[in-house]
This record gives sequence, C-alpha cells and structure tokens, in this order.
Amino acid sequence: MAVLDISLYPDQVLTTPGSDVETVDEDTRRFIDDLTETMYTLNGVGLAANQVNDLRRICVIDTRPGDQPGDRSGLLQLVNPRIVHRQGHVRWEEGCLSFPDLFESVDRAAKVRVEALDREGKPITVEGEELLAVALQHEIDHLDGVVFVDRMSRLKRKMALKRYYRTLESIKSGARPVHSEGKGVL
Ligand code: NI
Repeated sequence: MAVLDISLYPDQVLTTPGSDVETVDEDTRRFIDDLTETMYTLNGVGLAANQVNDLRRICVIDTRPGDQPGDRSGLLQLVNPRIVHRQGHVRWEEGCLSFPDLFESVDRAAKVRVEALDREGKPITVEGEELLAVALQHEIDHLDGVVFVDRMSRLKRKMALKRYYRTLESIKSGARPVHSEGKGVL
C-alpha cells in the first residue's frame, strides 16, 4: 500500500467532476486501499479520489477512528456514492486536506442517505448524521468537483481564500510543512 500525494487547491483536479467506476476490480481495490492508507496517515476523517489526482468517483471516510491503532471498524469505502435523501440543517466547522490549515463553518444537511457500491461492487446504503453526514456531503462534493469554499458566502469565501493563499505561500517557500498533525480534516 502507498501513501499518495495530496492535491492542493487551486489544483484543477479538485474542480473537475469524477466519473463513475464501471467495474469494481482488483485495480479499483488497490486504489481504495491506497486512498484509505493516505487518509489514516494524514489523520483525515475523509478523503476523495480527486484529492489524490484521480478522477474515479471513490471516497473513504472514518469519522470514528478508534483509540487502538489499526481499529478500522468505522471505515467506509464508497464507490460511485450519491446522496439520495437530505434532511434538516446543520452548521459545521470543516477543514480539508486540500486546504491546509483552513477551518470554516459551512451549512449542510443534518442527515443524509447515500447509495453507493462497496469494495466488492455490491450496492450499499449509508445513513449518517452529525459529523458522518457532513463528511459524506463534503466528500461527495469533492467527487462532483465542488470544494468547501464553494459552499461559503461570497464574502466569507474571499476572506478564507486570502488567508489560505498566505498559508500556501509559506508551504511553497518551504517555511512550513504541508499538513499539520492531528486534525480531523475532510
Ligand atoms: Ni476535503
């Protein structure tokens, strides 16, 4: 398994919608394993394929990584996920591995139901609320080429991007690492 490089905004792959996976095969599963490894290594709670420069509609989520290393009982690996039902409203502070150190509140549905295929290609339904609902919406947005700043008001997005581009400059100049430790980003 490999830890993959994260594409940082404004990389074009992040604003490009992914394509459905036609056959879930060994190659797909290898990629899912690498995506999963990358998410856990970077302490993410979710990761979408286009964040590692791949335009297949695949994402992984674990909103309750266990206290024990290697506990993956909360892991979801979703192929071709789609939101089929939304309910209620929640405002949640989100971060994203493709936007290092940017945390902003975003309006989301409080509960969602998602249909997808699992790693064997079998149809599954996932229902989530709170952080899981937020993570499902954030990752599926990624697969649609939508990033969380797109969900902010125009003014808020402008301020957030201004701060983010300063962070990006210090990353590019080598003044700071790309990812800080220990944050539950999506
Ligand atoms: Ni993200």
